Amino acid sequence: MSRICVPTINRRELLAGSAGLAAAGWLPRSALGAVTSARVFTLAAAPARASLVGPPHPETDVWCYNGRTPGPEIRVRQGERIRVLVENRLPEETTVHWHGIRLPNAMDGVPHLTQKPIAPGETFAYEFTCPDAGTFWYHPHQRSFVQVGRGLYGPLIVEEREAVPVDRDVTWVLADWRLLNDASISGDFGNMHDVSHNGRVGNTVTINGRIPETFAVRAGERIRLRLINGANARIFGLEFAGHRPQIIALDGQPVEPHAPSDGRIVLGPAMRIDLLLDMTAQPGQRFRVVDTFYRGLEYRLIDLAYSDAAPLRDLAGAVPVVLPDNPLPELDLKNAQRHQVTLGGGMMGSMRTAMLDGKPVDIRTLMHNGLVWAINGVAAKGHVHDPLLTLELNRSYVLELVNDTMWPHPVHLHGHSFRVITRDGKPTRHREWQDTVLLSRQERAEIAFVADNPGDWMIHCHILEHQAGGMMGVIRVT
Ligand code: C2O
Ligand code: CU
Repeated sequence: MSRICVPTINRRELLAGSAGLAAAGWLPRSALGAVTSARVFTLAAAPARASLVGPPHPETDVWCYNGRTPGPEIRVRQGERIRVLVENRLPEETTVHWHGIRLPNAMDGVPHLTQKPIAPGETFAYEFTCPDAGTFWYHPHQRSFVQVGRGLYGPLIVEEREAVPVDRDVTWVLADWRLLNDASISGDFGNMHDVSHNGRVGNTVTINGRIPETFAVRAGERIRLRLINGANARIFGLEFAGHRPQIIALDGQPVEPHAPSDGRIVLGPAMRIDLLLDMTAQPGQRFRVVDTFYRGLEYRLIDLAYSDAAPLRDLAGAVPVVLPDNPLPELDLKNAQRHQVTLGGGMMGSMRTAMLDGKPVDIRTLMHNGLVWAINGVAAKGHVHDPLLTLELNRSYVLELVNDTMWPHPVHLHGHSFRVITRDGKPTRHREWQDTVLLSRQERAEIAFVADNPGDWMIHCHILEHQAGGMMGVIRVT
């Protein structure tokens, strides 16, 4: 717990949150900023109702932070320290994981591994600094296939130290719901079909908790569009008709601005992409944004609707915005140690046995335990395990991720960002830094990082049903 020093009252140190201080009337509100070293936020996780589909459909019972889904956007400056008081008003335990933030292990929000889960009625104080500017998000790590699927997640935006030259900075939290006809959430969380196939792909997609018809734009505008995939399982493949958005950051980390080769912005669960969207068309025009990822399930996400206002500027020949680098540790690839991390299991896979609780068992026994996936032959139940790998602090590593299954998997490593250096043996063009890498079925990728953050860190598939179904492990940095 952090201590708040209050020099004005005889250098007395108070072990209380600043909200408590204000309530007690000891300090004028304006003094709080001066005496706290961390900016304080509160998140209350609780059931609520939300109009997801809009009238005439009824509201939906959701779980969310501060009464809305997505939860409030936490927006801070790079290098700033924040303290987030998370109050659990759910009927079950929870935690919050700050996805992509390189923070101390004790603040990582993994139940039993890094903290005791927050019991109903309890509050937990998370406190950490945000070293990297970029687009991040928060969500529970306790039964996340249910808690995220019911609406618990929110954006965490870390602003660059100097303003980025765009006209608007817009966040779209993309989410996916499985709704019944009465707009209520289908209760079939974690069913074996979802677990063993694609995960819980829903039937309703929302942007910031709504189904908006249009996104109003003006000709000549430059927009930084931050996409966050908060869905349990849905992979998005977005096409912006009539436009050529440039990818300027992936998973919060700047990347050389580029348009994807096939024009489609692909975003696996938990991934973030920052786009530079130049509004190059004419006043009054309208364009569709479509999601074409799943064949046969294409749909229109939203329309870009140009106002009649005269163009803000002529964008012909405009150069892309390049984001400043984040302070990531330098890789030493020559001396890097290599390991293989193989994903196995699932429907149509070849896995026949896996280790469960230290014993080899057959696939039937696994399925009786709700498990169908494994990493390096181990099917994980719960978050606490003997580490898959033990890495030496501050040493460089190359992990070869091998997807030996018939399904795509977005693989997330906690506590670090890594460079994706090859895919199927070929060097990647942009050597992008990510924290979640989407592997197509049977694809391999090499990721490289410096193990500079001590602790036990999860590595898992971010299709939350796959994670619950065993595709999870621990990497120890010591
Ligand atoms: Cu976004 Cu381990 O999670
Ligand atoms: Cu997966």
